[in-house]
Amino acid sequence: MKPVKITEGVYSLRVNHFNRHLFDSLIPLPEGTSYNAYLVKGSQKTALMDSVDPEKAEVLFDYLRGEEKIDYIVSHHAEQDHSGSIPLVLARYPGAKVVTNPKCKDFLISHLRIPADKFIEVKDGETLPLGGKTLEFLCMPWVHWPETMSTYLREDKFLFTCDFFGSHLATGELFSEERTVYEPMKRYYAEIMMPFRSSIKTHLERLAGYDISFIAPSHGPVHKDPKFVMDIYRDWVEGEPRNKALVAYISMHGSTYLLVNRLVSRLEEAGVCVEKLNLDHFDEGRVAMALVDAATVVIGTPTVLTGPHPKAVYAAYLANLLRPRTKFVSVIGSFGWGGRAVETIAGLIPNLKAEVLKPVMVKGQPTEADLKEIDALAELIAEKHSGLRPG
Ligand code: FEO
Repeated sequence: MKPVKITEGVYSLRVNHFNRHLFDSLIPLPEGTSYNAYLVKGSQKTALMDSVDPEKAEVLFDYLRGEEKIDYIVSHHAEQDHSGSIPLVLARYPGAKVVTNPKCKDFLISHLRIPADKFIEVKDGETLPLGGKTLEFLCMPWVHWPETMSTYLREDKFLFTCDFFGSHLATGELFSEERTVYEPMKRYYAEIMMPFRSSIKTHLERLAGYDISFIAPSHGPVHKDPKFVMDIYRDWVEGEPRNKALVAYISMHGSTYLLVNRLVSRLEEAGVCVEKLNLDHFDEGRVAMALVDAATVVIGTPTVLTGPHPKAVYAAYLANLLRPRTKFVSVIGSFGWGGRAVETIAGLIPNLKAEVLKPVMVKGQPTEADLKEIDALAELIAEKHSGLRPG
């Protein structure tokens, strides 16, 4: 593999992982992912920006085989898909120093046992000259760990962002295209970044003061239209949710399914965009992406023994972890002889600062009166959504 020149002295060392199907043993990857390192060559010094997942270290070394000297390894984030090969790079280039902030240094020492004397610590705003190229370090905590950092390459107006603005997308295309990157970027944001909306908002405000020509993340393609990417992020972190309801459900003997179908029909008739997801076999990423936009979340669950179905519990727990901007929630479902399905679900979602709309739990198969309650819930949701942007 040869480094791919992006501009004079700046190279992409992207390692695609097309057949990786799961990230963090949790997140499905329908389009694979990539780990992107970059090489910045000044007239005097050379810096490697991050490394790659150690599983793919040999590809990184293939890129580096003509490179006799690396002076600095800039580490933006200690998670191992970017830092895991740093000990191997240090072994190959023993004169290199790892450049990072104190918190990231601490994490790299504890996660990878890199010796403390291998580091150069930098503070927020500090610069490092490479000879005709100047790296400016921007501490940007909580995208999505507390030590995360970006680097601005002043002369070329590059912003190296590691996970920030990344997308789980393995591709041979160097640059992103709106059509192909939007969904992988949304999936990435929903699963990784959404809980940190307020930190991201602050960082976006800071970045508005920088003249940026390229955003070079460490997953997915390079963005040469930073405005497109930043506008999408601004919408996701600052905008109101949309006229959309996520109805995530599971049914055992069909009663909950009847309620769900009625609700979905009535919502659609009332002009609410609906994403109906069967939790029987579900992709966590689809749930997460729906949560980015949905103003309302309705969980549909039968009662198992005394509580909600475990798959409904999992979905509710996931939604709570991701802290979406949901405004309204409800629960619909069925029971045989009693139980506390609604109370259990409600206890699982304290992070959702949402208004609870009256749940509809029915005994056995829904009666016409039960279905009228569902109609009333649909009507209420449509009313609450009045004035929201299209879903
Ligand atoms: Fe791509 Fe947080 O690591």
